[in-house]
Amino acid sequence: RMRQFVDSLLSQMTLEEKIGQLNLVSVGFDVTGPVVSENVDENIRKGNVGGVFNTYTPVAARKLQEFAVNNTRLKIPLLFGYDVIHGHRTIFPIPLGLSTSWDMDAIERSARIAAEEASADGLNWVFSPMVDIARDARWGRIAEGAGEDPYLGSQVARAMVEGYQGNDLTQYNTVMACVKHFALYGAAEAGRDYNTVDMSMNRMFNEYLPPYKAAIDAGAGSVMTSFNEINGVPATGNRWLFTELLRDQWGFDGMVVTDYTAINEMIAHGVGDEAHVGALALKAGVDMDMVGEVFLKHLKQAVAEGKVTEEEITTAARRILEAKYKLGLFEDPYKYADEQRAKTTIMKPEYRQAAREIARKSMVLLKNEKQVLPLKKTGTIALVGPLAKNQRDLIGNWSGAGDWKQAVSLEQGIRNVADSSIKINYAKGANITDDEQMIQRLNAHGGELQIDKRSSEQMIAEAVKVAKSSDVIVAVVGEAQGMTGEAASRADITLPGKQRELLMALKKTGKPLVVVLMNGRPLALAWEDENADAILETWFAGTEAGNAIADVLFGEYNPSGKLTATFPQVVGQIPLYYNHKNTGRPYNGQLLDKYKSRYMDVTNDPLYPFGYGLSYTTFNYSQPKLSKSTISPSESVEVTVNVQNTGNFDGEEVVQLYVQDVVGTITRPVKELKGFEKISLKKGESKTVTFTIEPEDLKFYNNDLDFVLEPGEFKVYVGTNSRDVKEASFTVTE
Ligand code: IFM
Repeated sequence: RMRQFVDSLLSQMTLEEKIGQLNLVSVGFDVTGPVVSENVDENIRKGNVGGVFNTYTPVAARKLQEFAVNNTRLKIPLLFGYDVIHGHRTIFPIPLGLSTSWDMDAIERSARIAAEEASADGLNWVFSPMVDIARDARWGRIAEGAGEDPYLGSQVARAMVEGYQGNDLTQYNTVMACVKHFALYGAAEAGRDYNTVDMSMNRMFNEYLPPYKAAIDAGAGSVMTSFNEINGVPATGNRWLFTELLRDQWGFDGMVVTDYTAINEMIAHGVGDEAHVGALALKAGVDMDMVGEVFLKHLKQAVAEGKVTEEEITTAARRILEAKYKLGLFEDPYKYADEQRAKTTIMKPEYRQAAREIARKSMVLLKNEKQVLPLKKTGTIALVGPLAKNQRDLIGNWSGAGDWKQAVSLEQGIRNVADSSIKINYAKGANITDDEQMIQRLNAHGGELQIDKRSSEQMIAEAVKVAKSSDVIVAVVGEAQGMTGEAASRADITLPGKQRELLMALKKTGKPLVVVLMNGRPLALAWEDENADAILETWFAGTEAGNAIADVLFGEYNPSGKLTATFPQVVGQIPLYYNHKNTGRPYNGQLLDKYKSRYMDVTNDPLYPFGYGLSYTTFNYSQPKLSKSTISPSESVEVTVNVQNTGNFDGEEVVQLYVQDVVGTITRPVKELKGFEKISLKKGESKTVTFTIEPEDLKFYNNDLDFVLEPGEFKVYVGTNSRDVKEASFTVTE
């Protein structure tokens, strides 16, 4: 029926009307690039607009939709897109934080709630999930993805798509997902945003592409191009990427939208003038032009000059009309603009409760000496640091429709969770940053930084004073939300400003020092790791941040998050990731072993490895057992391990399974995640976890890009993180 409907519509459309469908305009609030769409009403009236983004609320959406439907010849409804990234109005932890929960049900639930709110708020299309693998903590957008691992990234991609789209896109409460940024945006050289990507096919297929593929397999309705070039060809004009790989090989039948003015940016990439890059993008398989209006300006002429065919334009228009059909917009253009539903849906108490629960699960306990955590709910706490009372930054980057004034500060959270007798001695202690240029840049883009004009000596002295009269120090430090996200790369990833100096002074008081981190990337925390008594990574935890952090600090929730991106000791080790290759001269820790793959001034070890995260309790792992020691290439093998809670608290543990293909026709990583299970264990309880390794899990892309399983020895590692594992092995016969 869809085919018939869209065919009949296309047969009535002029070339101009088809080109109009390929145009996405920005109406409203956020601008991430130099162009803001102009003459929007006029363009809609002329049939020059297929969709809008950056506008929401049922009233605004209905008004625009009415305008489009009532003023255009064919009454084609508009798509309404928006950057709904980690929640819409109820904000969840930033995506990197969501991923550290390793809880796919929780992640899917966050996307489901976002879809409920967004679809009630006028929207039918979300620019999420971002599934770009990122191994470089300098890159600000590492905050927006699921970290460094293709297997975990694929699970997260699937959970997000299923959460947004449900199993029926025509439902009033589901929205179309947009997988981004296709492709390899996270591999920008030197972690500088938008920078060049040059990558072997072998790395691309084995390490970077799997999450995009998983999102497509989960049925994502749209894909966004990326700003970067790939091996000399800008992604947005890359025919191999969008036609051969995405559509022909992966069978994607949805629509492709560019990133913001990405077609225009191909001029700066140096591959041609505006008319040329427009034709390049269309021919590559791109359907919709975000903001740049290159298609609008040039495609008609390009047809006349024979640079593109009308058929190519019809194909792109068809994909956009099909998306509208799948969303049910032709049946009811106003189904996503229901004021009544918005009133009863947005920021429901149960959504806030979910945000609190999911935020707790995302927090990673990095250190806990002498069980300083959990804290007693009584006594005196020195609550210190620029983020201790902060609300503005808690909802993190890309929280477009989120209202930071709704966010619970940690100070408030402590009051909500601890006993009413608790005494809080507060001092700010330091600004997040004192760098004038940084402050200007952050404030120019909505940073709203509260800068204390006192000298840092004065501020630190005040903090030391309150620390001395308290039982324990909780120092809340980190980044401003604008220091991560788009166009927010940092070359130095230590705590910004005078925050480390503040911690150093606090340390000297001799009081127990608990560091609570709020930030959007792995930081270099060597000093903090050596000197703090406890460190809790909370990311930017969303609307319920303060309550969720307090739940963890006071033991209402036992932390269970595990890192999904490696924390280096120093920035110079980057890129540093667990699933690396061995090299011909692997370094094995011998100080005087010079001619090895190593640094003179730092070991190769991360500060905290992938998969790492502590609990208030302890877990003991048995030796993993295999169901067979030899299998044929079509058989699977089961791995069982017994995990016991040996500490004093009930807790959750993410049991992780890694595999290593010991010998290959091409070199293989030292280990790769191939399974995980998050289990809950009461104090003293033990459980047996069984993983099944399927032949597919042992395959990889060789240099001919065949997906092969090569016979030989495979090592299996099971453990609490990628470093601390127990080993077994099996052989695959010819
Ligand atoms: O969705 C975003 C993308 O991630 C970065 N550029 C702008 C887009 C739309 O706002």
